Amino acid sequence: MSELTEYCTAEQYLGKATMEKITSLAKRRGFVFQSSEIYGGQSGAWDYGPLGIELKNRIAGEWWKEMTRLHDNIVGLDAAILMHPRTWEASGHVENFTDPLVDCKKCKSRFRADMIPEENITSKKCPDCGGELTDTRKFNLMFKSNIGAAEDTASTIYLRPETAQGIYVNYKNIIQSNRMKIPFGIAQIGKAFRNEIVTKNFIFRTCEFEQMEMQYFVKPGTDEEWFNEWKKQRWAYYEKLGVKMDHLRWHQHGPDELAHYAKDAYDIQYLFPMGWRELEGVHNRTDYDLGRHSQFSGKDMQYIDQDNNNERYIPYIIETSAGLTRNVLMILCDAYDEEKVADKGDADDIRTVLRFHPALAPVTVAILPLMKKDGLAELAHDIRKELQDDYATDYDQSGAIGRRYRRQDEAGTPFCVTVDYQSKEDGTVTLRFRDSMEQIRVPRAELAVKLKQEIKSYKRIK
Ligand code: GAP
Repeated sequence: MSELTEYCTAEQYLGKATMEKITSLAKRRGFVFQSSEIYGGQSGAWDYGPLGIELKNRIAGEWWKEMTRLHDNIVGLDAAILMHPRTWEASGHVENFTDPLVDCKKCKSRFRADMIPEENITSKKCPDCGGELTDTRKFNLMFKSNIGAAEDTASTIYLRPETAQGIYVNYKNIIQSNRMKIPFGIAQIGKAFRNEIVTKNFIFRTCEFEQMEMQYFVKPGTDEEWFNEWKKQRWAYYEKLGVKMDHLRWHQHGPDELAHYAKDAYDIQYLFPMGWRELEGVHNRTDYDLGRHSQFSGKDMQYIDQDNNNERYIPYIIETSAGLTRNVLMILCDAYDEEKVADKGDADDIRTVLRFHPALAPVTVAILPLMKKDGLAELAHDIRKELQDDYATDYDQSGAIGRRYRRQDEAGTPFCVTVDYQSKEDGTVTLRFRDSMEQIRVPRAELAVKLKQEIKSYKRIK
């Protein structure tokens, strides 16, 4: 509770998503575990538990639907993580994908020079112990390994630091195989790796992570228009997911922040517990990447516009690039809530609830028999079987019903179905809503349709 005394009153602390609370809930409920925990943990890597993988898959699924199914001219791809090493020379990553690094000669701490106060760099003074800092040097973030038995430069291979390059090297294959016409897009979700100097804030910045990237190929001269269009679409996407919009803002990259490939770039930042941080980037990458691949591979990367007198040009690329694992953290923080509830007569009773959009919730509906006996458990199992094909379900028969509701609230389950003695008599069940805690009776036969309607019309109330 250190943050309680430092930053806010007990009343304000209640309901506030702190990193401490999110990390602890994530472990307790099986969202995210430290990698290799029994060996003391591996920094920069995390494992997704039963609820975490469901949440991550749902976020990926919603993004995939948004970026491919809802667009006639965007197709998917799953390129290999290991790519020809020339890819990374062409992309500029071998030369430019670096962070400025300083070490403390005394305490051996390592810092990103752009993340510590300027005065420490100029005075060469360690911000932790006051010891002497080394000169700033460039540190390449790509993980390097060797492929095959020999360990020489000819066998150098990199783990990809972004998924985008797999799309660029396949752009001609996709035009040919799928008869794509500009403008069109290619979407991909996959792992990326960066040897980050500073990995803190849980799963925010890690060495192994996942990206959801879409590259949109456009005619030069139309790029600024498409750039603005994609900014609009990506903003609307988060609104549709019910994210707190006052926790999102745009940040335009200044000249010092622009990546080596970008003409213009905006981040969507989210107000995480540690402050405003990048969630996703929208970049105008111009013809830089395809131009460089053309130069390095010797292959013609021009698009031939058959509808326009076979006009030839290297397309410009508008990229939308979101971190999937960073989105998991954002959705956890955004959904986190604690509230005082007096449903057991105790005014100070507090429930923790994850207010996930039902489309993202790891479990959509939990089936709870009021008692194990008198055929209620069997009836509940039957109902679960009916719903299982369409919905992610859970079944829980242990403990008082209030406790079971709280467990589901904490896992973010939007709907609970309680099976009681009346269910045996008239075929109705209780449907309980996570957010309002309201309960209504619904005929069992109408349950699946009712859930579908509720998910479609869901509006976040808090
Ligand atoms: N292809 C462009 C690109 O990779 P980026 O801004 O370096 O751009 C895009 O990364 C997104 O990937 C970020 O907005 C962030 O969500 C996610 N990301 C980048 N580095 C990450 C890391 N070390 N850990 C987790 N997510 C990361």
